[in-house]
Order: sequence, then structure tokens, then C-alpha cells
Amino acid sequence: ALVRRVVFLTGAIDMKGCPAADRGEAAFIGRSNVGKSSLINMVTNRKSLAYTSKRPGKTQQFNFFAVNDKPGREKEVKYGDVMPGSMDPDSFLITDLPGFGFAKVPEKQRKQWADFMSQYLAERNNLRVVFHLIDSRHGPTDEDKKIMNQVSENLPARVNYVVVLTKADKNIKGAPGKVSKDVMQSLRTAMNENGVGKRPVILSSSNTKLGRDDLWRYLRLAAEA
Ligand code: GTP
Ligand code: MG
Repeated sequence: ALVRRVVFLTGAIDMKGCPAADRGEAAFIGRSNVGKSSLINMVTNRKSLAYTSKRPGKTQQFNFFAVNDKPGREKEVKYGDVMPGSMDPDSFLITDLPGFGFAKVPEKQRKQWADFMSQYLAERNNLRVVFHLIDSRHGPTDEDKKIMNQVSENLPARVNYVVVLTKADKNIKGAPGKVSKDVMQSLRTAMNENGVGKRPVILSSSNTKLGRDDLWRYLRLAAEA
């Protein structure tokens, strides 16, 4: 099995609060309510590892999950050095980010998250893949364009940036699992205009598990790092 164990490690609001960068890492970013936490549960085969909610603004910190860590490690060393042999060779970290665009989050908090994200993208040197989740029914919002800008300015070229179109099961009437031409067009335009260029795009649904194998092609890069 790809996921033998997965545990919540810690939540952070700044770089100092991040767990040791001691293995590969995959981050899930995107606007509030787009389905980040649900997708993390889907790829790890867990029902409620990452907390989800109908109401936007559920995730309030950068939440770090450890996949295939040895039992009990989450209670031991969260920061700094890791004891040798404390993790399996295919262990990696998953980060669930808060959605930045949510109006009810105070301005100060949003600024703090945005600053943390720039620094995180630029300096988290174990990062192997950033999944940017966008609603497959609506395409990129202004918030998504800001995220693309953030990525193009801060993310090192060695890190994979992958767009994930979410909630495909809710899609166009009579055609679940399909994306409208308009959405694809506006996505390509937004990617071009906001400096990320041509990147992989995965269509997904946490309900039907559509896109799971495609997501794992990139998660494996974190696991093998
Ligand atoms: P924040 O933590 O607020 O940033 O939100 P999030 O991006 O983590 O979204 P979350 O996973 O909490 O999902 C938001 C809502 O969308 C929940 O009601 C989910 O059940 C629903 N949802 C998520 N993914 C899917 C999907 O693939 N299909 C359908 N139909 N609903 C989904
Ligand atoms: Mg969430």
C-alpha cells in the first residue's frame, strides 16, 4: 500500500513552526472551500484526517501530515533534528493550507498567511510538488490569479506546480467528469498572464476518486525524495 500510516504532525503560522524539512513534501493550496482538505483525505484513503466543512474558512493554519512515519513519532520530535531510523524510506509530508480568499478572515490574518506562503514557497527546500486547486465549474478566480503570481515569483523551478480542477462530480449538467471549454480557456489564459505558463492539469473529485492516480504520480515524487 502507498499509505500505511498517516498522522497529523503539527499546525504552523510561520516558518519557525514548520516541522523538520527532513523528507519530501507536497502542498495543497487554493481558495477557501475549493476542496483541499477533502482531496487530502481522498489521496490518503482517510475519511476525516484533514477536517472539512461546508462553510469556507475551516483550515486556519498550515497543517502538516506525515505519511508512513513510524508510530509515535508525532509525539516525539516535531522540530529540529530527527532521530535516525525514525521514519520509513517512503515517508513524506503533506501540507494543507488555509484558503486565503475568504472575506470573513480579518485582513491582518490574511496578510500573515500570504507572507507565510511566499516564504514557504521560496524557502521550504524539501517541497517537491505544489497542487493548486481550482473549482472545475468556475475556473480561476481573482484569488487564484494571485496564487499563480505568488507561485511564479516565489516557487523555485525545480518544484512541480500542478493545477487540480476539483469537484468534477458536480460538473456541467449531464456531463460529470467533464470541464467546459470556457473554463479550460480561462485557465490557460490565467496561467499565461500570471507567469506560470504551461503546467499539468488534473481533473479530480474527492467523491468519486477521479484523478487519484494522476495525483499520486506527483505525490510519489515527494515520497521518493
Ligand atoms: P478551507 O479549509 O475553508 O480552505 O476549505 P477546503 O479547501 O479545505 O475545502 P473542504 O475540503 O473543507 O471542502 C469544502 C466543501 O466542499 C465541503 O462541503 C466538501 O464536502 C465539499 N467538497 C470537497 N470536495 C468535493 C468533491 O470532490 N465533490 C463534491 N461534490 N463536494 C466536494
Ligand atoms: Mg481545509
